[in-house]
Amino acid sequence: MIQQKNLKSLNTFGIEAFAKQFIDLKSFEEASVFFKSEDLSDQNILILGGGSNLLLTQDFNGLVIQNLLKDIAVIEENEDSITLKVGAGENWHEFVMYCVNNGYAGVENLSLIPGNVGASPMQNIGAYGVEVKDLISEVETINIEDGSKVLFSNEDCQFDYRSSIFKTKLKNQYFISAVTFRLSKKPAFKIEYGAIKSQLVNMGITDDQLSLKVVSEAVITIRKSKLPDPKEIGNSGSFFKNPIVSDATFEKLKKKYKDMPAYQLPKGGYKLAAGWLIEKTGWKGYTEGEYGVHKKQALVLVNYGNASGLEIYDLSERILQSVKQKFDVQLEREVNII
Ligand code: FAD
Ligand code: EPU
Repeated sequence: MIQQKNLKSLNTFGIEAFAKQFIDLKSFEEASVFFKSEDLSDQNILILGGGSNLLLTQDFNGLVIQNLLKDIAVIEENEDSITLKVGAGENWHEFVMYCVNNGYAGVENLSLIPGNVGASPMQNIGAYGVEVKDLISEVETINIEDGSKVLFSNEDCQFDYRSSIFKTKLKNQYFISAVTFRLSKKPAFKIEYGAIKSQLVNMGITDDQLSLKVVSEAVITIRKSKLPDPKEIGNSGSFFKNPIVSDATFEKLKKKYKDMPAYQLPKGGYKLAAGWLIEKTGWKGYTEGEYGVHKKQALVLVNYGNASGLEIYDLSERILQSVKQKFDVQLEREVNII
């Protein structure tokens, strides 16, 4: 166990904050023994993956447990599909590249999302028309209270837009140790998302030339054109969720803002684009001190150097209020505030 660990290099916002105690766990056995032997009931704990979906607003007065469990194992395989059990500490994008290179379809639209496999069910990560919930068959966890192994089926996880039971009812109660994915060997390419189609055209790719590799490359190119690389500019991706509003609210707003992007949801209501709402309130590209709102994507808050987590949190509060005032729409933070 390390005391007073600086977390600056372990979060993609690049915020300096110290953990009172820190430990990394490298195998299921090590993790299980650790949780069996430690009584953490009175401890503040934070499970850490790649640190790409957190904002540290203060030093962490508790124990940070970094998940470094690696391994990719084939559980089942036939000519149509493959089932892979992947250690929570595997890097997400490296796992996607492994699938793309081996012809396992499903995750290619989720290329270049930072972070580790273990956090992917937590947040139900998504991009370009795909959510990870559509590929997960099981999540293996360790109960933090007693070290026992607990399996969650896809249904048990209660997946929703950027949410799951691990982020809501069972927050901080289970250490995700591995995720099992069912992938297809017969790709059904999802390229309806406007930007992917036009990027493929730019790349000179015709329908008969589609492959997992070119779809992945198209997604990577689009992402690089608007999202900041955390190695260069600190950030945690979209800071807010895209808000979901009722049909009535949508109709009212659409009358006033004819160019407002919105997606009709199958169950009713509309998902609005938080980036558009934030841009229209004038925040896009706003800079103050060493932090601000990304110039190319208003949904991304950035740390250009040594901003504090509190400064960025305060900026997010001001953005929430502006959007509420102008559109009467309540934004919700997507990033985990610590
Ligand atoms: P962390 O930030 O380490 O943790 C996130 C949360 O999960 C925390 O609450 C943590 O306690 C919990 N957690 C992590 N690991 C475990 C575990 N093993 N067991 C239990 N709890 C755990 N997300 C998208 O969905 N789509 C995108 O397109 C996208 N683009 C991004 C682009 C950029 C540039 C950045 C910086 C982020 C982006 N994100 C995106 C957000 C982020 O990459 C994902 O949420 C990612 O899954 C976080 O993984 P992580 O390992 O870094 O999690
Ligand atoms: N828009 C603006 N101004 C902006 C940003 C966006 O007007 O500054 C408009 C765009 O023109 C477009 C719409 O908003 O009409 C949607 O923009 P975009 O396609 O860039 O996607 P997003 O809704 O901003 C979501 C996810 C991303 C994911 C992309 C691609 C959320 C909160 N964000 O962003 O996920 O990569 O779609 O699928 O759902 C993340 O979760 O961290 C993340 C980056």
